[in-house]
Amino acid sequence: MKILVLGSGAREHAIVLSLLGEEAGHDIQAAPGNAGIALDVPVVALDANDPVAVTNHAIAWGADLVVVGPEAPLVAGVADELREQGIPVFGPGKAAAALEGSKTFAKRIMEAAGVPTGRAVRAGTLAEATAAIDEFGAPYVVKADGLAAGKGVLVSEDREAAIAHAAHWLQHGSVLVEEFLDGQEVSLFLVSDGHTVVPLSPAQDYKRLGDGDAGPNTGGMGAYSPLPWLNDTFGSEEAFTREVVETIARPVIAQLASERTPFIGLLYAGLILTSKREGASDNGIRVIEFNARFGDPETQVVLPRLASPLSQLLFAAATGTLGTVPAPAFSETSAVTVVLASENYPDTPITGRPLGGLAEASSLEHVHIAHAATRTADASDASDASDGSGDTLLASGGRVLSVVALGTTFAEARTRAYDALGRITLEGGQYRTDIAARVAD
Ligand code: AMP
Ligand code: GLY
Repeated sequence: MKILVLGSGAREHAIVLSLLGEEAGHDIQAAPGNAGIALDVPVVALDANDPVAVTNHAIAWGADLVVVGPEAPLVAGVADELREQGIPVFGPGKAAAALEGSKTFAKRIMEAAGVPTGRAVRAGTLAEATAAIDEFGAPYVVKADGLAAGKGVLVSEDREAAIAHAAHWLQHGSVLVEEFLDGQEVSLFLVSDGHTVVPLSPAQDYKRLGDGDAGPNTGGMGAYSPLPWLNDTFGSEEAFTREVVETIARPVIAQLASERTPFIGLLYAGLILTSKREGASDNGIRVIEFNARFGDPETQVVLPRLASPLSQLLFAAATGTLGTVPAPAFSETSAVTVVLASENYPDTPITGRPLGGLAEASSLEHVHIAHAATRTADASDASDASDGSGDTLLASGGRVLSVVALGTTFAEARTRAYDALGRITLEGGQYRTDIAARVAD
């Protein structure tokens, strides 16, 4: 198959690597990709958010399938345009992508579908927001309504900080004040062709910047998969995913289909498992958010465990035939990924600094690197950034790369991941040291 992958992050690198690993052998391109992806497949310099540019390229190249990585092209209508031109595309149209792009829309769909989620109040003014903040009490949860690149959510014990966060995001639109949900978080990816829903294996993401969940929220600093502790509550991973499919995913997919906005692509359910305390009314699985695309960095740990072809799954979803392909299979392997971020991430990351040790790190057994924000140094860079060989890599954004390691146990995978990270140099680079520690004993 000729497969065009849109995006330029570690998630897209993970998708490319998974497709490349298939026996069938595919012709793959990424647009715009990054310096790491370019080491594996040809990259095309086009604006992934431009529906016409993407569609023209897909037609000219003869793409059999387009896989949309990030949310921005979805919200920009790239999938709609491709579908209009008859090109199979994995990714929802603009209207269904509002499940991620608008938290108000997501709440309405969840309510209509009877899906369990936290109570929320939408506020358009600071007075409304403050009243809701005081009604719910601490810990406070305040969210920007629209896309905010992972920066729109504040969870804090500090009332003044909650009000300040609301005041900031009210300049850009409305905000949601939400009930605080206490419990373990799970990211579950569900593939849909608009009607049928197929779950992948769950992962856990580390959203906060620092060890022990200290510091601000980020796009995600690490992840692991599978989640052995799910067995304690649900008996098995299958029992858990079945419950999510039945009580959350299927009703949401059916609701969107009934509103003539079918969801074709990856429904990412961000869940909190509130404690199943005896007598408590608020226990069980709750949705914190939906995304309309694969998660980053969870994809980096879920796809390496996928033991059946990714392309078959995505193509079946794109062509409305998901019910006819075998359910995805996963290996028992423990997968861990740790994100290396630039100094000052997530505020104003310092970029343009050279990366070292990548070849050595990625040559370690059962370790690979998914690049996120890397580029090759050129003549315009400081001479100390380029060694003249033309292949010096520079960090070009906040989350720079994901080190991915596999093992027969989490302890083994963790050791490998941190061994690899120890060989990578980036001035001011930061990473968490506790990724998957809780499952490694
Ligand atoms: P979101 O961008 O909506 O996924 O939120 C980012 C993070 O904030 C989540 O991964 C949770 O850790 C936390 N969070 C969001 N909503 C809630 C909530 N209602 N209760 C507790 N934590 C939350
Ligand atoms: N890891 C969180 C996200 O992809 O939104």
